Amino acid sequence: MFNQGLSLDQAPPISVPFRFFLTAPIFAMLIGVMFLIYPAELITNRFSSETIAMVHMFTLGVLSMIIFGAMQQMMPVLAGAPIKRAKLFATVVHTFLTLGTIFFVLKFLYYQNEFLVAAIVCLAISFLTFFITAIRLLFKVKYVTSTVNVMKLFAIAGILTALLGLHLAGAHLSGNMGSNYLSFVNIHVLLGIFGFAALLIIGVSFQVIPMFYVALDFPKSVQNRLPISIFLLIISYFAFAFLDLNFYIYKVLFAIFFVIYAFHGLNSLNNRRRPVTDVTLWYWKVSLYSLVIAMLNWLFVPQDSSYFLTILFAFGFLFSLLQGMVYKIIPFLCWFHLSSKGYFDIPTIKEIIHEDLIKIHFYIYMASYVFFLLYGFFSQIFITIAAILFILSNILFFINCVLGMKKYASISKKDPLQTFVKS
Ligand code: HEM
Repeated sequence: MFNQGLSLDQAPPISVPFRFFLTAPIFAMLIGVMFLIYPAELITNRFSSETIAMVHMFTLGVLSMIIFGAMQQMMPVLAGAPIKRAKLFATVVHTFLTLGTIFFVLKFLYYQNEFLVAAIVCLAISFLTFFITAIRLLFKVKYVTSTVNVMKLFAIAGILTALLGLHLAGAHLSGNMGSNYLSFVNIHVLLGIFGFAALLIIGVSFQVIPMFYVALDFPKSVQNRLPISIFLLIISYFAFAFLDLNFYIYKVLFAIFFVIYAFHGLNSLNNRRRPVTDVTLWYWKVSLYSLVIAMLNWLFVPQDSSYFLTILFAFGFLFSLLQGMVYKIIPFLCWFHLSSKGYFDIPTIKEIIHEDLIKIHFYIYMASYVFFLLYGFFSQIFITIAAILFILSNILFFINCVLGMKKYASISKKDPLQTFVKS
């Protein structure tokens, strides 16, 4: 699994990814609270300030948080590119991402420019530290796999997203939006959602689905061609915008690429060589089916105000998958660090976070997802119920992560020899 060729001195300290994984559910709970506080029409209106705040509570506080934490663990393992001074690096990236997210949200809720200045500084430090280091390391990797190639594209998309975001934030600060402002917003959104977030998930799943679930490999042609095609399509937005080409063709191409990915992902998961039950698999499947439905919705429901697309893509595809991934990474890391330090009498990977607790989390999360979708057809009460369930599910997500870490902490306090004698 993750430990192929990994030694303890190459892996970052366990506190590095954990601090990111523990912070993400807290921001997710706050998203639920925002849904409760603000009227649904306001918070689901793409152009309101409150929506910009909430979108970034998710994209920075949840998505980037989990992705940055996971990448620090995955770069040494999947790309053979360990980050030097991992603890300091994690402290800088995590602290400034957390502060930057808070200031950004405060600006768009309370309209104080001082918050935006603070957000720009903090987010620039966090994103530039992360991506400049990642790009430097990834472009030096000698053994280049398809996942390494996708990680490179992810890193380029990520730094461009951040630079454009900082540019947009600067425009908000100066009040000078310029005539191409909307095109910059669109390319920022495309790079952020389809490049930064989706590309990373796609690249990592090429390696992680076959490893985690003893499943079929993605075809080599898909691994080699799909990510670069998605990346080039994002960049070609400029051609479509400035040459005034038909955007429907653009959408169709995106939808085809993502459906190809989802099809092969599901095919791999449904044809596992060792089909043992595993709750985390449910998150992956929901995620991939949601991606297909999101794409079909995008193509064939032109009257949709983008509410369904956002819920299907953000909560259905991205967040489901990241939760499933965190539930795989935390137990594995606890087990790996303990066994590498010489502890013998340790729980198995499946015992570190109890499966029943993950199942309860999954059911509550799914219920909130369904209620969010139902709000699209019915009234405010559905979004209120969805928000309450969303908060509950994230409290459980947080508790489950803490329980796993506490189990690790309580064993690692003991002398390894003691656990050996006991066994
Ligand atoms: C340095 C980090 C970032 C900064 C400073 C930033 C800044 C901004 C700003 C100022 C806007 C508002 C544009 C407008 O006037 O409508 C915006 C929109 C948006 N950003 Fe970011 N952004 C950042 C990172 C990201 C990331 C990583 C993602 C996705 C993964 C993302 C996704 C979006 C989306 C979806 C919108 C559109 C929101 C809406 O239409 O309501 N951003 N960003």
